[in-house]
Amino acid sequence: MTPGHVFLVGFMGSGKSTVARLVAEALGRPCVDLDDALERTSGRTPAEIFAEDGEDAFRMLETEALERLVDAPASVVACGGGVVVRPENRATLKRMGSVVYLRVTAGEALARIGDVSTRPLLAGSGGVIAATSLLQAREALYTSVADITVETVGRDARAVADEIVSRLVEVPR
Ligand code: S3P
Repeated sequence: MTPGHVFLVGFMGSGKSTVARLVAEALGRPCVDLDDALERTSGRTPAEIFAEDGEDAFRMLETEALERLVDAPASVVACGGGVVVRPENRATLKRMGSVVYLRVTAGEALARIGDVSTRPLLAGSGGVIAATSLLQAREALYTSVADITVETVGRDARAVADEIVSRLVEVPR
């Protein structure tokens, strides 16, 4: 097992929050949800921040929330789907721990999310076409930061978490 945090990255609906809880439990580590942490410090939900101040303001708060983890005990961290968009975040992820990419298709992600009203980048957009193009634009970024990539389509969260726990021991640092 490597020191530092275990970061779960991947598209909205890839199962990061659920899988993070299971991995944290298995490793006996705290579980942190970056969107929840950001919501606690800003007093607003990501959807409210997007609506009131726009995506750039949200990304700024997301970077700050990520950087605050430098002082936290080694945790399993479920990141928001867009954390990889900013280069400084990608560098922070690599510097502070191991990165696990949960891969999902746009169709499966939308099916899992169901009501997209809490996902401003999907709400009011063209559904599967918008999700596909956003996922395509991010795929290389997820891959570039990942120490481990795990397929999630057709698998339950427990199976995904078990694979992560067994493969984390292989991650060189
Ligand atoms: C976002 C994903 C969301 C949230 C925000 C932006 C994105 O988190 O951070 O709505 O840009 O993909 P989840 O991936 O947990 O849904």
